[in-house]
Amino acid sequence: MDLGEFEQALHEDPHPVYARLRAQGPVHRVRLPGWSEDAWLVVGYEAARTALADPRLVKDTTKIGVTIMERDMVGDHLLATDPPQHTRLRALVTRAFTMRRVEQLRPRIQQITDELLDEMLPAGRADLIGSLAYPLPITVICELLGVPDMDRAEFRKMSTEVVAPADVETEQSAVVRLGEYLTELIEDKRRSGPTDDLLSDLIRTTAEDGDRLSARELRGMAFLLLIAGHETTVNLIGNGVHALLTHPDQLAALRADMSLLDGAVEEMLRYEGPVHSATYRFAGEPLEIGGTPIGKGEHVVVGLTAAQRDDGRYDDPDRFDIRRDTRGHLAFGHGIHFCLGAPLARLEGRIAIGTLLRRAPGLALDGTPGAWLPGLLMRGMRNLPLRW
Ligand code: HEM
Repeated sequence: MDLGEFEQALHEDPHPVYARLRAQGPVHRVRLPGWSEDAWLVVGYEAARTALADPRLVKDTTKIGVTIMERDMVGDHLLATDPPQHTRLRALVTRAFTMRRVEQLRPRIQQITDELLDEMLPAGRADLIGSLAYPLPITVICELLGVPDMDRAEFRKMSTEVVAPADVETEQSAVVRLGEYLTELIEDKRRSGPTDDLLSDLIRTTAEDGDRLSARELRGMAFLLLIAGHETTVNLIGNGVHALLTHPDQLAALRADMSLLDGAVEEMLRYEGPVHSATYRFAGEPLEIGGTPIGKGEHVVVGLTAAQRDDGRYDDPDRFDIRRDTRGHLAFGHGIHFCLGAPLARLEGRIAIGTLLRRAPGLALDGTPGAWLPGLLMRGMRNLPLRW
């Protein structure tokens, strides 16, 4: 099935398209808009969950003779490797992202949020993405990794072009520039000596024991953490606030009882999660997903946005309900690639949205939100104009 004609709908409002597909089955052979080859698109919840955890769907495509440009240019990272390499890489960074370690960042995240709101609120109106949703996670991940005085505007452009490119050429050029940027950054850090941050820790690991983290892996890790660390949380804050403002009853319920906030954030992740589809997977051997046979070497795209609105899993899935039981949502993926940064993303989302609601009574949309991001990887708005 050629989904090219649904390109616009898949960005602006993909849910009716996915509902129609789900009604016909959980897995479809499709040509995605702008793609030159067919892929399997998984839209049903159970099939998606099963696929995400199936070790026969591989990330290291060298096994099946497929070259992934990003891995080639930037280096190996968690989302481009399988066990045992993936297990080794993940063990090196897991410690930095445990719930306990992340909880220690709470005061700093609160402080950054307050400072951004101090700047944003006096004007009475602003674009939420540019003023809060974007700068908060990038500041946090840069501090965590130890990225000094980064050119944030340029970085924002590069990283958005990597995850939501307008076309293949834009993506390639952004990946190349980002790769060069990271090489320089790592060199600078090596030269200026270690500081107390994650990137220094990883550089030390490489220097002391080259077997544990190669130069390619170091660059890949920095790449993934920087991109994953902020391109996603920005959309949790943006999509989440948008969902609240377009559902006044839910907004009022939350304002009346802020103890509902944690559950509300989970529903934001389910209802309009930041990641539209999981990253690529390829069949390393023939297998079946949702009763559909998949041939060796075939490309599988797991549609998270589609799966989370499956009425086989959630009652009345198109209803935004902050009190719903959202357990099992797939916004952070599932299986061995389950999001490493989930505790950090949740903490940032809760602090940002909770503080915004407390400090901006009368918060409302100020005109129409900007366009949804292109591509099928991310689900988020370019701007979200608000007033209060
Ligand atoms: C609301 C925000 C976030 C969402 C919705 C999200 C979503 C996801 C999803 C769906 C995956 C799995 C992709 C796949 O299986 O193809 C993933 C993996 C990952 N995420 Fe997140 N993410 C968020 C925030 C973060 C943050 C803040 C960080 C880092 C600091 C981060 C780091 C990672 C890493 C390193 C992986 C790869 C894990 C692995 O392969 O073992 N993410 N994320």
